[in-house]
Amino acid sequence: MKVCASAPGKVILLGEHFVVYGTNAILCAIQKRASVSVESHKDGVCVSSIYGTDVFSSSDDPKSASPHHRPILQIANEAHRTVSVSIESDIPPGVGLGSSSAYCVAAAGAILNQNDSGIIDVALRAERSVFASASGADTAVCHRGGIIEFTGKGHESFDGRTDIVLAVASTGRKHSTVKAVDAVRRNKEQNPEHFESVREQVVGLIGDARAALHSGDLVSLGVHMSENHKCLRDIGVSDAAVDKIVAAAAKTSYGAKLTGAGVGGCVIALVDDSNSAQTLDAMRSAGGDVFEVRVDSEGLRVSQDCAS
Ligand code: PMV
Repeated sequence: MKVCASAPGKVILLGEHFVVYGTNAILCAIQKRASVSVESHKDGVCVSSIYGTDVFSSSDDPKSASPHHRPILQIANEAHRTVSVSIESDIPPGVGLGSSSAYCVAAAGAILNQNDSGIIDVALRAERSVFASASGADTAVCHRGGIIEFTGKGHESFDGRTDIVLAVASTGRKHSTVKAVDAVRRNKEQNPEHFESVREQVVGLIGDARAALHSGDLVSLGVHMSENHKCLRDIGVSDAAVDKIVAAAAKTSYGAKLTGAGVGGCVIALVDDSNSAQTLDAMRSAGGDVFEVRVDSEGLRVSQDCAS
């Protein structure tokens, strides 16, 4: 039997990096998806993706696999499955849009042929086989879809106003989340009081952003996203290219910030139909590769009807 699954990518509206230290984060699934198809295989695990094809024996340690395919081996071994797995994605990799979390969620759903919330833990263990400190926020939103507030112990979803629109600009510079998170940890260790004061600001911004999302107040949500960007600058994960795009987007959008690990990656700006085109133009002129995205209210989709 063939099983197909897909899961959306994501952006972080507020709270990246601080979420690694237990602060809540607000995330939004986006209408770009990773798709995984799985068929039983006589023995071992065969994985095909844009990174090529790898064949593993079931006794292979996941650590021996390349980081791109290691999560698949981890999930298959854990489930005692011998499978052939094919991965496709329209989420740009390595720029903070959740490509690896989406593919871990879709792979866990397809290999286990399940869609319940237990998939989040399986996908997170797979993701942690590559990035041990992953907070789990990305995995949660890629599974749930929509907009969520991740708390570390679970998540609340914002089922009220979920029709936000984002202008996205990729700097085209891929980042290593592991290296960015390590740099923030060093920054925190060198100056714990400063880190704590910035973290407290972010906690306040997230409370205000939550209220703005509940009332559908784009102006307030945008202001708090822009303030969050300043906090990310304060802990050293922005750079000149990102700041230039954020400044350009701030002139016409409701608010703009880097999203994800930073140090390259992507900038998001909160827009609606009145200012999206202008904001995209401004971000393009500032050096970004731009597109508009909307919230994907559907999270993990698992199906035996692989034609749909
Ligand atoms: O890997 P990215 O760019 O999607 O960013 C992950 C977000 C971090 O907060 C930096 C790490 C985490 O595990 O939450």
